[in-house]
Amino acid sequence: MSEFVLNVNGAQLHVNAPEDESLLSVLRNRLNLTGTKYGCGEGQCGACTVMADGQAIRSCLVPVSSAALAKIVTIEGLEVDGKLSRVQQAFLDEGALQCGYCTSGMIMSATSLLNSKHKPTHDEIVEAMNGNVCRCGTYPRILAAIRRAAGEPEDGGSR
Ligand code: FES
Ligand code: FES
Repeated sequence: MSEFVLNVNGAQLHVNAPEDESLLSVLRNRLNLTGTKYGCGEGQCGACTVMADGQAIRSCLVPVSSAALAKIVTIEGLEVDGKLSRVQQAFLDEGALQCGYCTSGMIMSATSLLNSKHKPTHDEIVEAMNGNVCRCGTYPRILAAIRRAAGEPEDGGSR
């Protein structure tokens, strides 16, 4: 076991963990931040997506020892003073979830995208979200939510 100081959602948190334990495991099992989900554990589904220095990463693939210098943001860190982020609110407004298991990862990937590109095209959204899998097939509503968060109406019209 080693001690690590992680910067998670703006707080400095001390954790003891094996160096090769995944960031996902540390977040969920040692820091009780269970909004980040375990899906495949192999970098294939996106359920575990968090942001590190603004970039979407698959936390199941990142050892905690590599995360100690980064500013980590999880789904719990998006809400500020009880107010959902624009992406969270857009997912709610569009009903962009069914079982909700993929939703945290979807929102984190979408947030990372919109932080780097305020008005992504449809193709850019699809490309950025390509590694996030929704087994319930809510992709049309997820895309609509991201477009809403980007300030565009779902149908591309004049709303
Ligand atoms: S659990 Fe990390 S990508 Fe599936
Ligand atoms: S809403 Fe169920 S996996 Fe996406």
